[in-house]
Amino acid sequence: METIVTESPRIAASWLNKGELVAFPTETVYGLGGDMTSDTALRQIFTAKGRPPDNPLILHLDSPGRIQEVALEIPETAERLIRRFFPGPLTLILKKNENVSPLVTAGLSTVGIRCPAHPVAHAFLKQCNHPVAAPSANISGRPSSTDWQAVHEDLKGKIRCVLKGPQSTIGLESTIVDCSVYPPRLLRRGAISLSELKASVPETTASAPAENTRQPKSPGLKYSHYTPAARVILCRPDSQQSKPGRKSAWIGLSEPPADAAKTALCSDADNYAYRLFSFFRECDREHIEVIYCEVPPDEGIGHAIRDRLQRAAEG
Ligand code: TXA
Ligand code: MG
Repeated sequence: METIVTESPRIAASWLNKGELVAFPTETVYGLGGDMTSDTALRQIFTAKGRPPDNPLILHLDSPGRIQEVALEIPETAERLIRRFFPGPLTLILKKNENVSPLVTAGLSTVGIRCPAHPVAHAFLKQCNHPVAAPSANISGRPSSTDWQAVHEDLKGKIRCVLKGPQSTIGLESTIVDCSVYPPRLLRRGAISLSELKASVPETTASAPAENTRQPKSPGLKYSHYTPAARVILCRPDSQQSKPGRKSAWIGLSEPPADAAKTALCSDADNYAYRLFSFFRECDREHIEVIYCEVPPDEGIGHAIRDRLQRAAEG
């Protein structure tokens, strides 16, 4: 299949409305979108990514006013989070209504809902006839795509269209909060931290890490994620690298080791998040064998970076 690359949200939306797959930019990472009413498109999303069928998709809407189209109810906790954080890098899990296919939710009675703040995403979603089901636009298990070239690298020939935008400004996937239960539970860390969530909904709890591995509330958390081909090794800011040099790379916030083949010195945690996945991909292109990743401070988006680094190191 020929994959068209366009900068026009109108052209991209017209392909999606015909039942074709379209990758599109958001402020977190690029999404791989399909019309939620097309079973063919939904099935193709799983095939194109090599995604396990029990891992549900997030629905993307141009405006929070449309959540009633897909949710059974909007609890008061969700309303507070919507008022504070939509549009933005937050996904809410709500009880689904009958409009939502089990192919979207992998048979669950709940559905993930997100309204991206990105202007290109907004223009695109506005011209789509229905909510857009979209996982991250990468081959399953690889780092998420934060620029259109990464999308193209993974999905060229497998999807109809790539809507080209700038590099995703955040660089990590959205924070996920389950509001189908009370109190709401943080399922995946992202740019919006637990303390920011608690400022709006003080009852919000973090799910214990052990729960994530045994029987995760968020099915995607049990799969290996964010893994470059290179081996990922976590290191502390003050530690001396054990085997730097030949074919090793380093990313972090403090002084890089002099003998690494490739380094990324990030100006702060936001910059670290912004660069992480594209750095992983660059390392793969350059056949780096080991990537040393400095663990950032445990605060704000640093929590989310640590989470992704841990998963990458395990994968
Ligand atoms: O920032 C993002 O969230 C990006 C952009 C494209 O919006 N999307 C994204 O999608 O990261 P994906 O599919 O790569 O990750 C979605 C996660 C998966 O771990 C999935 O298991 C979980 O959300 N999820 C989806 N629906 C769910 C539900 N009903 N209950 C629990 N977890 C759900
Ligand atoms: Mg993903």
